[in-house]
Amino acid sequence: MTIPLSTARILLVIGGGIAAYKALELIRRLRERGAAVQVVMTASAQAFITPLSAATLSGQPVRHELFSLTDEALIGHIELSRSADLVVVAPATANLLARMACGLADDLATTLLLATDKRVLVAPAMNVRMWLHPATRRNVERLEADGVAFVGPGEGPMACGEFGPGRMAEPAAIVDAIESALAKPGDSAVNPRGPLEGRRVIVTSGPTYEPIDPVRFIGNRSSGRQGHAIAQAAAGAGATVILVTGPVSLPDPPGMTVVHVESAREMQAAVAAAMPADAFIAVAAVADWRVDHVETEKIKKGGGGPRMLRLVENPDILAEVSKQTMLRPAVVIGFAAETEHVVDNANAKLHRKGCDLIIANSVAEGTTTFGGESNEVQVISAEGVESWPSMTKAAVAGRVIARLAAELAKRP
Ligand code: CTP
Repeated sequence: MTIPLSTARILLVIGGGIAAYKALELIRRLRERGAAVQVVMTASAQAFITPLSAATLSGQPVRHELFSLTDEALIGHIELSRSADLVVVAPATANLLARMACGLADDLATTLLLATDKRVLVAPAMNVRMWLHPATRRNVERLEADGVAFVGPGEGPMACGEFGPGRMAEPAAIVDAIESALAKPGDSAVNPRGPLEGRRVIVTSGPTYEPIDPVRFIGNRSSGRQGHAIAQAAAGAGATVILVTGPVSLPDPPGMTVVHVESAREMQAAVAAAMPADAFIAVAAVADWRVDHVETEKIKKGGGGPRMLRLVENPDILAEVSKQTMLRPAVVIGFAAETEHVVDNANAKLHRKGCDLIIANSVAEGTTTFGGESNEVQVISAEGVESWPSMTKAAVAGRVIARLAAELAKRP
């Protein structure tokens, strides 16, 4: 049953972070759209904004004490936790997420979050290192498994002077997420997590490094951005994701298992170990060749004329997965990086490797596919060729995952 925002009752928990000021803007936008907003503030939130500002904007007294006799007499905290259509936590600090993940109930905010039988949407905001810390990763994973929905955080310059993921989503994006949470059926605390819920997806990303000797390798310019974005979109759609990545300088995306490898053969073994899966998406720029004999000592220059490296072909991970008879994932998607005849070469690859879809892009000189933020792709399948306009790698990822969900839905 969809609840329109114009009649929705939102319980907004404001945590203590510099982003708390954006929660005031969120209240304003929600009220403009007709929603009723009951605000609860943690003690530390009050160090950033005053209850008076929140009460003025929401038109309702702000609650912040667990054991307030006057507040409890008006509406008890258990009733408060159930009287809303949706509970929104914005900003959710690392500390608040940790307390939620552990099921603590040591103040009014966490008690409400533990007592509620309603859906919970969280907008995290914290320093990038805190967001990337394994403890926070664990807490996010646990909360996602509990059915808590997330919006953001975004990437950008932070109040602390650092740069990266951790900025709270903008109020407009939180309002969109609130509307989509209100549009999902059911009112239990466990959210339907998206079109890939219950699906297992393996994604390869980044380059591979093929060793020559202990200090040298053959590699390529893949940044891993597209593969990581796809893994993140799949996790966002509710899939259990195993990301097998070559060496990249990107942080591990949250909410998934990340396996780090160096060479093509290590990637092949990690993919085999992660099977079976419902879908395999090969985004990695796997080196086609490796050095036949890897020297155990550093090769010294000089003498004996030009140095020759004997190369042997690496296993083709995508073709191997596609051609499996017993464990073939229902949908196998490959990427094709081409410098010329993009569609013809990608079409040939689709057949040669036996996959269901090939996402082809040009990496010719003058394009910024490798390492850049955007991508212009053509999608090749048995049904023909689709050209997608140039868009960010995150947007390509979103469309690839929507397409994957549609393909999986077609199969029994
Ligand atoms: N791929 C793979 N294992 C390999 C080589 C490629 O899994 N050893 C996958 C890539 O992840 C990608 C697709 O195959 O999804 C196509 O990769 P690409 O490098 O474009 O193709 P190649 O197999 O190298 O073919 P060609 O040399 O003809 O370009």
